[in-house]
Amino acid sequence: MSATLINDVKTAFINTHQLEPLLVFSPGRINIIGEHTDYNDGFVFPAAVDKGIAAAIQKSDSNVSTAYALDKDSKVEFELDKLKPLAEGSWENYVFGVIAEIQNRNKIIGNFNIVFKGDIPGGAGMSSSAALENSVVFGLNELFNLGLTKHEMILISQKAEHNYVGVKCGIMDQYASMFGIENNALLLDCRTVESKPYEIDFKDHQLMLINTNVKHSLSDSAYNDRRSACESIAELLNIKALRDATESDLDAIKEKVTPENYQKALYVIQENNRAIKASKAIEENDLETLGALIFQSHNGLQHQYKVSCDELDFLVDQAKTNHHVLGARMMGGGFGGCTINLVSKDQAKAFGEAASIAYKNEFDKTCSVYFIALSEGTHIVK
Ligand code: GLA
Repeated sequence: MSATLINDVKTAFINTHQLEPLLVFSPGRINIIGEHTDYNDGFVFPAAVDKGIAAAIQKSDSNVSTAYALDKDSKVEFELDKLKPLAEGSWENYVFGVIAEIQNRNKIIGNFNIVFKGDIPGGAGMSSSAALENSVVFGLNELFNLGLTKHEMILISQKAEHNYVGVKCGIMDQYASMFGIENNALLLDCRTVESKPYEIDFKDHQLMLINTNVKHSLSDSAYNDRRSACESIAELLNIKALRDATESDLDAIKEKVTPENYQKALYVIQENNRAIKASKAIEENDLETLGALIFQSHNGLQHQYKVSCDELDFLVDQAKTNHHVLGARMMGGGFGGCTINLVSKDQAKAFGEAASIAYKNEFDKTCSVYFIALSEGTHIVK
């Protein structure tokens, strides 16, 4: 967590409101493997990171509330009983959505002011949105003694995303951001919403992210389309979610679905198995197997689930030709954002530099390399 970030929101809050705020840090996340499995009730393997959103928040005795997005230098004033989603893409929707979902649970909050700032670029696939939602619900829960559990808070954050942002996301991002544990990744069962922590120490290897710095449009509608395709196949199979299907179950209904949707469902079933296999590989310190599973995951996301893009595929191809990289894949919803790479520690920097040069030559665009630390979930900063 960056101390400058905390300081920035604190200073801006005091300058604007002349009050000591409550300070909250809410992290973004990585995901080792298990992509697009969460809304299929499957397994995912995320971890909170040391980048995220810092928020300064305090009650107000005014008859309006305010939110101030410091990075964008954008402020909004609003009345708590008159909230409506704004145009698609408005940052306000994350804040309004959380408030509305708190109110839907008959919890009463009073007016407040919030100032926030982050160090995850939007569109990086590192869940800056879940981090923001969690910071708002966590701060309000504390300020107004709402008595919400962490599980209730992440459901509020998720519903905000569904109803105000318009993305029918699963629970992975909000969970990882809220429940993260330092130096651990969490094997999360998205049906029970319970996780098992795995201490991550890859010895002479490490995880490294490369951000394509692109986010292709239509990604939200493509996401929602895939979710509904998965749900309709689960319905055909007469099961609650694809998590309950095997490859042979799917083969039995093959003629009833389009070849495209067959591949998508097959991907989900296979990816869910890969997430479980990856947890075994980590237990056994078998990084070769883990890396191979990560490459297979990308292959499925690219060719079967079709949520990748040229920039992501290019960076994964760079990784494939470098024998110091054991595995690489796109991370998060797709259509841009980061690749996650399992790379030998002493070659990570060199690989990042070589990939950046190649990326620049290919696309005439710059990518960014991030070294991350696995960190604690949403918390108050004293
Ligand atoms: C986005 C969503 C998550 C998850 C991933 C894909 O990050 O918010 O719920 O579905 O995409 O794994």
